[in-house]
Amino acid sequence: MQVLALLGSPRKGGNSEVLMEAVVRGMAQAGGRVEVVRLCDLKISPCISCGGCDATGACVVKDDMTALYPKILAAHRIVLASPIFFYGITAQAKACVDRCQALWNRKKLLRAKGQWQQNPDQKGFLLAVAATHGEKVFDGAALCMKYAYDAMGFLYGGDFMVKGIDRRGEMAADALKLKEAEEAGRRFMA
Ligand SMILES: Cc1cc2nc3c(=O)[nH]c(=O)nc-3n(C[C@H](O)[C@H](O)[C@H](O)COP(=O)(O)O)c2cc1C
Repeated sequence: MQVLALLGSPRKGGNSEVLMEAVVRGMAQAGGRVEVVRLCDLKISPCISCGGCDATGACVVKDDMTALYPKILAAHRIVLASPIFFYGITAQAKACVDRCQALWNRKKLLRAKGQWQQNPDQKGFLLAVAATHGEKVFDGAALCMKYAYDAMGFLYGGDFMVKGIDRRGEMAADALKLKEAEEAGRRFMA
């Protein structure tokens, strides 16, 4: 099964990346072929709401998102890993999500033609870290990603989120959590 791991953190070797590495290790152990994409290394413009995808389901803006669309559509599992920035995912991750408006239109157009069928083996997951322990600290990101995966045509498979992680190195220091994350990765392949 093809796994697309999207890293939304701008911090190289940061907490989201360490968490994502543990999860995809588990996914690979369970048979996943993992491709990691660092969204911060790509040039992905924000959606400009031009309506260019309304009639076709294809985005007219040509940048690094162009090569990402087929990878999204071909994946069996997608994991998006992001730190919480102001109760949501990072701007880099959000730009990618917003550009999936084209996939929302694609799905709508296929459905209208009776050609849309949910693939039960396409599932999306959210991995997130946050500095604080706020009760609702992951709510915004989780809601955003549930709807984003639905637009992509993926079922929401769940999440693995860790509170109280802030400075670089804090996630790597929590061996127990990383073990749990690896186990979660294996579960995500079921
Ligand atoms: C711009 C910015 C906004 C942030 N907003 C929040 C927030 O709303 N809630 C929170 O708990 N942590 C917040 N944080 C802290 C990060 O989520 C935390 O440092 C995280 O561990 C960084 O992960 P990374 O190393 O993968 O980038 C914020 C950090 C930055 C830089």
